[in-house]
Amino acid sequence: MSKTVVITGGNSGIGLATAHELARRGARVCLACRDQAKAQAARTEILAAVPGAQVEVYQLDLASFDAIRRFVASFSAAHDSLDVLINNAGAVPLKQQKSAEGFELQFGANYLGPVLLTHLLLPLMEKAVTVDGEARIVHLASIAHNLGRIDPATFRGRARYNPLAAYAQSKLGNLMFSNALASRLPAGITTQALHPGGVDSPIYRELPRAVYAVMRLFLISPQRAARLIADLSLAPHWKGKSGGYETVQWPKPVSRHARSRQEQEALYDTSCKLLGIPPLAARR
Ligand SMILES: NC(=O)c1ccc[n+]([C@@H]2O[C@H](COP(=O)([O-])OP(=O)(O)OC[C@H]3O[C@@H](n4cnc5c(N)ncnc54)[C@H](OP(=O)(O)O)[C@@H]3O)[C@@H](O)[C@H]2O)c1
Repeated sequence: MSKTVVITGGNSGIGLATAHELARRGARVCLACRDQAKAQAARTEILAAVPGAQVEVYQLDLASFDAIRRFVASFSAAHDSLDVLINNAGAVPLKQQKSAEGFELQFGANYLGPVLLTHLLLPLMEKAVTVDGEARIVHLASIAHNLGRIDPATFRGRARYNPLAAYAQSKLGNLMFSNALASRLPAGITTQALHPGGVDSPIYRELPRAVYAVMRLFLISPQRAARLIADLSLAPHWKGKSGGYETVQWPKPVSRHARSRQEQEALYDTSCKLLGIPPLAARR
C-alpha cells in the first residue's frame, strides 16, 4: 500500500522536486502549502509528469498557530494515519516580519510552526506505526545552523534585524528539535534532519541579481536534494534510523549547540511553553 506523506512547502523549490520524487516512488503526496494557486499548479505539474499519481492539496500557513490547527483538522478528517511528515517549508525575509502570534517570522514560521505541527500530527503517526510498524519525520535544517545562536531575547523580534542571523537561529532550532525528538518519540517513529546542499531554488529570490548570479554557479539542482529527502522518507535502508543529520554536499559540520543535550532540552521545554503544548517525556 502506498505511504501517505505530508510535505510542507511542497509547491516550490526543494519541496516541489521532492513531491515529484515521492510521487514517482508511488507515495500519496499531500502538499501542505500557504499559496493555494501555486499548490494547485504544482499538483497539475506532478500529475502531468507522473500520470495517476495521488496528490492532495491542503492549506497551511506555518506563521499562525490557528492555521496549523486548521490544517491538522482538515488532514485528520481525510486520513486515519500518516506515514511521513517532511518539515520542508522555510523563508528568509530580508525585512523583519512577525508571525500571527507576534514572533519574529523566521523563529515563528521556520521553527515554532513545525514544532507545533509535528506534535499535533503525532497521534496519526502512531496509528501508522500500528498498521505498518513505522513512521518517519524529516526536517530541512541547513549548514547555516552553524552560524546560529538560540537567543530568547530575539524570539519576538530583533532590535537590529539581520536576516541571516534570524535564519541561522531557525535552522539551528530545526536541528535541535530533531535531536530532542529522537529521545522522546514513541517507538517506531523516527526523526532525521538534513542539509540539502546549496540548492538553486526561489529561496534566493530576494537577493540582489548580481549576488544571485554568482551564487548560482555553486548551487546544485533541487532534484539532487529531493533524492536524499525521498530516501530518508521512504527507503528501506533508513528504516529505524533516528537522530541523524545528513547532507547532500560535504563537509558536514555540526555546531556544538546542536549537539548539546542540555541546550536541546532547554529549547524544547521553552518551545512547548510558548506553544502551550505538553512536552513529550524523554526516554532515559
Ligand atoms: N535552497 C537552499 O540552498 C537551502 C539550503 C539549506 C536549507 N534549505 C531549506 O530547504 C527548505 C526549502 O527551501 P527552498 O530552497 O525550496 O525554498 P523555496 O523554493 O523558497 O520554498 C520554500 C517553501 O516554503 C513555503 N513557506 C514559506 N513560509 C511559509 C509559511 N509561513 N507557511 C507555509 N509555507 C511556507 C513557501 O511557500 P510560498 O510559496 O507560499 O512562499 C515555499 O513553498 C527550507 O526550509 C530552507 O531553509 C534550503
